[in-house]
Amino acid sequence: MTKHEDLLHMLLHADGKFVSGEEISRQLSISRTAVWKHVNKLRDMGYEFEAVSRKGYRLVTRPESIDETALQLALKTTTFGRKAIMLSSTSSTQADVLKLAEEGESEGAVVFAEEQTGGRGRFGRKWFSPPGKGIWMSVLLRPELPLNHTPQLTLMTGVAVCRAIRAFTGAEAGIKWPNDLLINDRKICGILLESAVEDHEVRYCIAGIGVDVNFDLQDYPKDLQQIATSIQIETGQAIDRTGLAAAILTEMEHLYFLYQKEGFGVISTLWEALSVSLNRQVTVTNPQGVIEGTAVGLDYSGALVVETQDGARELIISGEVTW
Ligand code: BTN
Repeated sequence: MTKHEDLLHMLLHADGKFVSGEEISRQLSISRTAVWKHVNKLRDMGYEFEAVSRKGYRLVTRPESIDETALQLALKTTTFGRKAIMLSSTSSTQADVLKLAEEGESEGAVVFAEEQTGGRGRFGRKWFSPPGKGIWMSVLLRPELPLNHTPQLTLMTGVAVCRAIRAFTGAEAGIKWPNDLLINDRKICGILLESAVEDHEVRYCIAGIGVDVNFDLQDYPKDLQQIATSIQIETGQAIDRTGLAAAILTEMEHLYFLYQKEGFGVISTLWEALSVSLNRQVTVTNPQGVIEGTAVGLDYSGALVVETQDGARELIISGEVTW
């Protein structure tokens, strides 16, 4: 860690209380002038401090944007997010990570953007990604996996993001198959898992995650106001996006390693516990047609099991679920 990161660490840990210049200079083994220089460096990065003579420095606000230094300090991972690229604007973080993957970047690398001008969703839809309001991120995965197991990874990502949101914000998010996250039946998060494949084996996957964090209702275009919501709208609180991003990456790494060690069973159990699709009358629309029935569970591959009125069990591998 550089000295200004050490300094930030100290001030973040002081939880808004003053830390004296003397204490900082002693702990970081730097002069008082150097302390002042590093405080100014952090100011340039968007942190605000109160400086009072004889009391020292107190962190007042963090930068508005998702912050690389604070992310690194908050991560409890060995791999995920340890390489993180922050962009102020990009077309789609999926394309940015694809480029990194093709250049040989290692697993766990992540690209964040404050804004996406060409954000992509499932089924070729657009993903609304205005600046400063959400978490728009893509993570590079290099699993050793046959192609037909990638739906499991999709579900694993949904479980990880859902658990992180619940733990970090207290919002009672649930999962709609396969991995939309909802609060009160409105969508707060979408996940897009894209894979590069060779000879039926996965070369790499890109897990794209879009979370509507600090939107107000008026931030949404009319057509989204009825179907989307944000964590801020649902909890009544502005959420620290950097902290939430770190929680997501930490939970993802934990479940990814668990999945590799133990297989899909444990992920499936966690998914079922967080699901809002199960035991519900659903309509599934996919290229094969429309299926109506009760969603009863997941099969070993991650497909949704839907029991139709005549008692038949249909396996849904892809498609859109509505109720
Ligand atoms: C969905 O349709 O529900 C999936 C939406 C996925 C959006 C995320 S935002 C970050 C990443 N970049 C993209 O262009 N899409 C994904």
